[in-house]
Amino acid sequence: MKIAVYAGTFDPITNGHMDIAVRASCLFDQIIIAVARDNNKNTLFNIEERCALVEEAIKGQKNIIVEAFEGLLVDYCKAKGATSIIRGLRAISDFDMEFQMALLNRGLNGGIDTVFLMSDAKYLFISSSLIRTSAELGGDIGDMAPQCVVDALRKKFKNKKQPHRTDILHK
Ligand code: COA
Repeated sequence: MKIAVYAGTFDPITNGHMDIAVRASCLFDQIIIAVARDNNKNTLFNIEERCALVEEAIKGQKNIIVEAFEGLLVDYCKAKGATSIIRGLRAISDFDMEFQMALLNRGLNGGIDTVFLMSDAKYLFISSSLIRTSAELGGDIGDMAPQCVVDALRKKFKNKKQPHRTDILHK
């Protein structure tokens, strides 16, 4: 059984993440979407909410599961019997950091390899923070995130006043 771990903060999961996870699921017997419990990021959604949104987004995907994780990613992979880490590459600017992370993880555990998938062109510019900001300002993010995420963001920002053009002009 070939198991791969797709780790991240997923605050929240986007269509870009989904594209990578679903494509990876065709290459491996099982994909574990591992949601980082504490990643020194001040997250909008807490760990339970982030996992629940992933769970909802992957409904119907037979060989993808979700779990929260903490500590070293390679230790988590080892505990799960995973031999690969999945990473998505969106642009050349992702490369430096990803290269460092892959080498570091390989240094920590030579038995675990990082597999990179190129992001679909549609999702090159998507990130969780851009989606959060767009949703907060009332933007239409329907093409960028699963419906459960669109709904959850709408709920989070429901009581926030949206800026109107006249507000901006009179500043
Ligand atoms: N589509 C859309 N967005 C994507 C994406 C894709 N395919 N791939 C990455 N992103 C975005 C994410 O949404 C995130 O956006 P944000 O910064 O606006 O929130 C950003 O790119 C960074 O994502 P990622 O590189 O996956 O970082 P992360 O913070 O989500 O997760 C961990 C990083 C959890 C994998 C890493 O910190 C880790 O392994 N931690 C465990 C500790 C450890 O082992 N450390 C040693 C190894 S570094």
